[in-house]
Amino acid sequence: MPKKKLRRFKENLSFPNLFQYSYKRLREEGFPYKGQWHADWFNNEHPLILEIGCGKGEYTIGLSTHYPEKNFIGLDIKGARLWRGCKTALDQGLRNVAFIRCQIQFINHFFEKEEVSEMWITFPDPQIKKESKRLTHPDFLEKYRLVLKPDGLIHLKTDNADLFNYTLEMIQAEGHRLIFSTHDLYRNSMDGDAPKIRTYYENIFLEQGKTICYLKFQLNNEKTH
Ligand SMILES: C[S@@+](CC[C@H](N)C(=O)[O-])C[C@H]1O[C@@H](n2cnc3c(N)ncnc32)[C@H](O)[C@@H]1O
Repeated sequence: MPKKKLRRFKENLSFPNLFQYSYKRLREEGFPYKGQWHADWFNNEHPLILEIGCGKGEYTIGLSTHYPEKNFIGLDIKGARLWRGCKTALDQGLRNVAFIRCQIQFINHFFEKEEVSEMWITFPDPQIKKESKRLTHPDFLEKYRLVLKPDGLIHLKTDNADLFNYTLEMIQAEGHRLIFSTHDLYRNSMDGDAPKIRTYYENIFLEQGKTICYLKFQLNNEKTH
């Protein structure tokens, strides 16, 4: 493994704003802040926004500086990427930010029912060959339902038109509530947070001349699988 990565993994262990729990530890001990993020970690009652597959955490960090009256958590499995977000948050003294290193599949081990107000899915791997691995597949949406407030928003930004169209079709088929969608975020000048922040991958895609798709929706809470 490259030395830089090893150094980052080691430094990650000292970061107070990063939680890393193996599945074994989660099962045996549970996560102490589940249901307690507000009272015991952030020490306020501000809404909690979760970014999944956050990579280096540009959205989590960017939104947290725009909205000091909200709390933000970035979640990813890759420690070397999370290092960047944790370090920036610590260097900037951001007290409304934390990061979790885990698989998205386990989010219900970290959050209680209705603990999360909004979720961002930023440039997920499109998983063209394996539908069940797409982060907007119905099985993933069921996981999100376990932690989201009933009126919670889910935002998706992607460069991948296939994933975007798949998500639009799935929203319609499952009776979820589409609130807004655009196949070309930067041509369709809009308010809100979607055009405000550009992630690491987004910048790469923009340099390649790709258009950026964006949508936001709410889950159909009458639908359970
Ligand atoms: C293409 S990158 C996008 C990163 C970042 N959102 C951005 O836009 O720059 C996708 C990220 O999702 C993470 N990821 C993919 N599947 C995951 C899973 N099941 N659990 C946790 N993280 C996952 C990867 O580790 C990677 O950092």
